[in-house]
Amino acid sequence: MPELAANTALPANAAGLPTITPDENGFGAEIGNIDLTQPISDAAFEIIHEAFLRHKVLVFRGQPLDDAAHQAFAQRFGPLEGHINVSTRHAKLPQVQVFSNVKADGTTTGVHPEKGTLVWHTDKSYVAEPSLTTILRSPAIAKKGGDTLFADMARAYGDLPQATKDRLEGLMCVHDWKRSREKSNERPATEDEMRAAPPVVHPMVRTHPETGAKALYIGNHTACIVGWSWADSDSFIAELETHATQPQYIYRHKWQVDDVMMWDNRATLHCVEPYDAANEKRAVHRVVVKGDRPY
Ligand SMILES: [Fe+2]
Repeated sequence: MPELAANTALPANAAGLPTITPDENGFGAEIGNIDLTQPISDAAFEIIHEAFLRHKVLVFRGQPLDDAAHQAFAQRFGPLEGHINVSTRHAKLPQVQVFSNVKADGTTTGVHPEKGTLVWHTDKSYVAEPSLTTILRSPAIAKKGGDTLFADMARAYGDLPQATKDRLEGLMCVHDWKRSREKSNERPATEDEMRAAPPVVHPMVRTHPETGAKALYIGNHTACIVGWSWADSDSFIAELETHATQPQYIYRHKWQVDDVMMWDNRATLHCVEPYDAANEKRAVHRVVVKGDRPY
């Protein structure tokens, strides 16, 4: 795919195809004139897919999907995958995860369902072939807080000083579910989870398999840089994350009920803004498309 100007809007299509409204800096875009409760045409998919590569984060407003339609849309991007954390698995659909603080009786649990989502990460970087895209829908939203923030890791990498890019050259990083749990103060990884997701190693700068763009590949699932001391590793990763999450690289999504949103895990980090989990009800359903090995 040729290099794209991220802030170039695709023309609205009068023939009933999706429209693309990019955020002002080109990171993130809203897709209009599409009904995801129905199968989408190849022509519509083509437009959405190009927008996905160009803007990295896509929002579809007013999409009252059920889980079946949610999965059907996600499958347009590739095969789906489940999650090693069975505690968030949908009761009947193993490839759907439910992150909710709402109990069956309508009251709240009082806690956000997964602390690891509150810190910057890219989905499933602790496996050998991490997620391509994650697609969420929002049956219930918090009135205050609970936004999802995204950081553009390709743009952040591009703006690094040459000396830092040189330092990153060839560096590999261990990503580990167990360590990630410890860092986010979540319950410890179970034996089954550790068996399913032993530590893996990925390059700290990955090349996007579809666009060729380079992006920082870090986040909370990182454990340490291969061959470095813990202290030096933690310090450098923190320095990179501080750089990459500056305001100019951020897209903030304010949820509305029945939003569908998706992002490119190969070129972004994301996290959920805290909210009052005792008094606010918040639920998202999540479907994830399998990716390939970073290089
Ligand atoms: Fe996530």
